Amino acid sequence: MTQNVLILPGDGIGPEIVTEAVKVLETAKQKFNLDIELDNALVGGSAYDEFGTPLPEVTMQKAEKADAILLGAVGGPKWDELEDRDLRPEKGLLGLRSGLELFGNLRPAILYPQLADASSLKPEVVSGLDILIVRELTGGIYFGKPRGIRTIEGGPKDGEREGYNTYVYSESEIRRIAKVAFESAQKRGKKLCSVDKANVLEVTVLWREIMNEVAKDYPDVELSHMYVDNAAMQLVRAPKQFDVMVTGNMFGDILSDAAAMLTGSIGMLPSASLDKNNKGMYEPCHGSAPDIAGQGIANPLATILSAAMMLRYSLNESAAADAIEKAVSDVLDQGLRTADIYSDGMSKVSTAEMGAAVVAALENLSA
Ligand code: IPM
Ligand code: MG
Repeated sequence: MTQNVLILPGDGIGPEIVTEAVKVLETAKQKFNLDIELDNALVGGSAYDEFGTPLPEVTMQKAEKADAILLGAVGGPKWDELEDRDLRPEKGLLGLRSGLELFGNLRPAILYPQLADASSLKPEVVSGLDILIVRELTGGIYFGKPRGIRTIEGGPKDGEREGYNTYVYSESEIRRIAKVAFESAQKRGKKLCSVDKANVLEVTVLWREIMNEVAKDYPDVELSHMYVDNAAMQLVRAPKQFDVMVTGNMFGDILSDAAAMLTGSIGMLPSASLDKNNKGMYEPCHGSAPDIAGQGIANPLATILSAAMMLRYSLNESAAADAIEKAVSDVLDQGLRTADIYSDGMSKVSTAEMGAAVVAALENLSA
């Protein structure tokens, strides 16, 4: 049966990097006789410019129908001044995540041996690094209510404004992300570290309790707990102590950027956001990088690797996924580097040249 893939280029460098990933997908489709069909839609600032909203109805409808979604990135200074926060590009992304219930966000941080020098940490600290951050994506303080900015009435602060958000997790929300994390750990090194702030925040006291409860169903996985401040420190001190980390939406946002940078280039890292049936949205971990948009220098590899993850997790085409990952490794072996991962003695290439090199490497692999 034909599987439908929705392509959402988004803003900034999104369209440039997605163009390359689509070429790679088309090549994989030919080579592996994949029965997939690609469609396109707008999201984020580009959707706002065209439709006056970052998540148009037509995009949401296509997203609901699709078997998987490949997204570039959203956001940029052009839309930062929008008064109505609901019209900001980020709301398009958050609306897709929550509307499709993509609660399970997998963010691998893998150090490619070819890029060991690109890390800001010493090679011995990061060589062989392979960790997975499982971030809860549709709850926590990102979505908790009440939220807003209000004016205080009465008392010594009368007339002053205050901003407020709500950090809330229900047991079922914690339980379902715990399951994703334990199952991921079972497929890897069987070690899971749950990150919380249970010394201060009640919501994470409950988080820790549920993690311990779910752990009983996974006796083969070793569960540990860590406060988020310590986890941030340990990630830069000795990141290889971790296998899988699981945490809430906001802590995961922060820790996954730190973990990504350990590998030397956030431009290399894909991510998957899955619902309970493994339907997913796949996007690079980096953002829309408006400062370099349109220059043809962005690294398309994270998006290409996101397409590989999509083939593996949502479309059940693991041979094609393996081949794309091998092709990426081959172009790194050839010494090809975009500016963000460039080092002396390598060949600096553009976004399009990198995409073409991956396509060529993929075509050259024996199927
Ligand atoms: C991410 C991004 C998003 C987030 C933004 C763009 C809303 O930083 O995917 O990590 O905070 O989740
Ligand atoms: Mg982030």
